[in-house]
Amino acid sequence: MSDTVIEQSKKEKSKPVIIVKDLYKVYRIGENRVRALNGVSFSINRGEFCAIVGTSGSGKSTLLNMLAGLEKPTKGEIVIIGEHMETKSENQLVRFRREHIGFIFQSFNLMGTMNAVENVALPLTFQGVSKRERTKRAKKMVHLVGLDKYWDHRPNQMSGGQQQRVGVARALVVNPEIIFADEPTGNLDSNTSREIMNLMQNVVREQKRTLIMVTHDNTLASFADKIIRIVDGKIVDMVDNTENVNAGTAEVVNKSSEENNHEKGE
Ligand SMILES: Nc1ncnc2c1ncn2[C@@H]1O[C@H](COP(=O)(O)OP(=O)(O)O)[C@@H](O)[C@H]1O
Ligand SMILES: [Mg+2]
Repeated sequence: MSDTVIEQSKKEKSKPVIIVKDLYKVYRIGENRVRALNGVSFSINRGEFCAIVGTSGSGKSTLLNMLAGLEKPTKGEIVIIGEHMETKSENQLVRFRREHIGFIFQSFNLMGTMNAVENVALPLTFQGVSKRERTKRAKKMVHLVGLDKYWDHRPNQMSGGQQQRVGVARALVVNPEIIFADEPTGNLDSNTSREIMNLMQNVVREQKRTLIMVTHDNTLASFADKIIRIVDGKIVDMVDNTENVNAGTAEVVNKSSEENNHEKGE
């Protein structure tokens, strides 16, 4: 790569895709008020894998739900790819999520009656993509996450790690600018969790995605480029972790898919 190309790609990368300004969320339960978010500000750049870490009850899910437009903030601004989330109507938010955002869930949220490819293709049905095109794109994603051999397996015919690979593929299939993951390995053992983290790292790099993951686990957070620490609804620390990431843990997608095929015998 020439210097100018490198400079250009650096510039592309350093554009914020998410800007959060002075965000508050107060829940009222009877007389009581819970400040789930208490003045949060940060930004996330294009192509970044960002982990938001905190203990249970610190406000992680509240923050993620607000970023995704699933809940309205009490106060503050959220700008995603140039658009204000806090001023959008429900319908606009639904459309925005469909077109720009992918989700990875702790409980995988796969349809039990559908096989891997059908599950991955599902978000495309809401975009009016033809069946043939849906299957083609879903198969490509299933390949990307190393599940070629399992394309016609239903969730109950796959291990937890394989199911979450399907979850990752499904999040990617709509070509989202941003992927949100809430405790994506919360239901997996530590080895499988590491595999899924490697997969997500590679996806961010090779597919040039922006990924925001919330977790209570510091080890899992260490796979991210940026670590934001949250305590009682406030950011207490924000660190650039790229040097550590580059120094060690990254593996190529094919490597992890090889490992994954070995799971078959478990
Ligand atoms: N819908 C809600 N109604 C009332 N309180 C809530 C609601 N959602 C979250 N909270 C409270 O807000 C705080 C942060 O919760 P949450 O964002 O779920 O934390 P985390 O995901 O970090 O475990 C907690 O004190 C929780 O009890
Ligand atoms: Mg949570």
